[in-house]
Order: sequence, then C-alpha cells, then structure tokens
Amino acid sequence: HAIPIITIDGPSASGKGTVAYLAAQKLGFHYLDSGALYRLVALRALQDNIDASDEMQLAEIAGKINFSFENSLVWLDGQNVDSAIRAESCGEFASRIAHFPALRAALLQRQRDFCRLPGLVTDGRDMGSVVFPDAALKIYLTASVEERANRRYKQLKEKGINASMPNLLQMLRERDQRDSDRALSPLKQHIDAQLLDTSSLSIDEAVKQVLDSYAAAE
Ligand code: C5P
Repeated sequence: HAIPIITIDGPSASGKGTVAYLAAQKLGFHYLDSGALYRLVALRALQDNIDASDEMQLAEIAGKINFSFENSLVWLDGQNVDSAIRAESCGEFASRIAHFPALRAALLQRQRDFCRLPGLVTDGRDMGSVVFPDAALKIYLTASVEERANRRYKQLKEKGINASMPNLLQMLRERDQRDSDRALSPLKQHIDAQLLDTSSLSIDEAVKQVLDSYAAAE
C-alpha cells in the first residue's frame, strides 16, 4: 500500500501551515512545512552574504544544509532558528530565490524523504503538483487577501510587533504575485486540488473540512 499523503498548497498567510499541522496531529501523521526549507536556505544565504542571484551557491546550500524539525521547532546546525526563519525579511528573501530550478531540484528529494509511515501532511506551493503528485488528497487552501492581512496583523500584534494594514496588504499582494508569476512550480490551484476557502472559517472548521475530505477520499 502507498503511504497516505495530504498536500495543502496555498498563498502566504492563508493559515495552511496551522491547518496542516493540526490535521497531521489528529491523524498521527508526520508533518512537513516545505516553506521552512526555502526559509532555511534563505537564512543561511543571508548569514553568508550570498547574492539572491547566485543560483549555484543557493542550490549548493539547499543540498547541504543540516536541519531538523525536532520538538515543533526548526533547527539549523543544531541551533534553534525558528523565530529567525519566520522573520518577514527571511520569507521575502525565500520568495525571491524560490524560482531557481537548481535550488528547487536540490530540495525535491529532501522533501520526499519526509514521506514515511503512517502518513504525511505537508503544506507549501507545489506539494500536490510537483513534490507529491500521487497524494491521496490535495487541497488548495486560501482566504481573501484582506482576511490574510488581518490574520497576520493580529499575529504580529500578539507578538508585540507593530504593523500597518496597508503595508501588510501590499506585502502579501507582492508575495502572491511573485509566487504566482514564476515559470517553475507557480502558486495556483491545480485541477486535481480541492478548493478550501477559509475566509469565513475558524481554524477548527478548516481542519475538520480537511479531515472530512480525507475520510471521503480514502
Ligand atoms: O510558505 P512560506 O511563506 O513559509 O514560504 C516562503 C516562500 O518559499 C514562499 O513565498 C515561496 O516563494 C517559497 N516556497 C515555494 N515552494 C514551497 C514552499 C515555499 O516556492 N513548496
């Protein structure tokens, strides 16, 4: 039997990561936040002053970085980099380098290595289309850009970080556009992915919908 996989792709700040993580918990499956891999490459490149245009060096980093996801935290060379990779600057840099074919190729097998029994829930941009095309269930999880900006605003506020709604809206629009316009693995709803619009759903409701769809697909 194939190992069951649920892919949840969608735009930045849609809540896909939280929904994927909670669905994995409920099912007792492994969880892969693929965006964290792109962010890890970005972090190492920023630390080492690698230029955002240096595809070969970035791909080399992607192939070599020594990371782990222990205790729900992200580690790079044994150091907790969880908050460092969540910084907006890191996400921004990640989205600027994610279009490089050599970098994406270097991360492909590293992502597939997360597919282990009893199953995997994973989120990103191309999990259903490229990395796990045989997934049992593919979801495209989104929300209106206003709602996503709203959620990000509240999240930052809780952390004591000041943010402005107009800036957040603009940043999300730019990120969506960059992720959607690239030739390789663009952000889009694929034909075999189910649309889950969470604009007016709570996290629990969204998780329930994923689990219901999975039960129906089994
Ligand atoms: O999902 P997250 O915001 O953490 O991802 C950061 C960036 O990494 C995205 O803006 C996107 O450009 C890139 N990414 C990607 N493919 C994935 C996951 C993330 O290109 N599967």
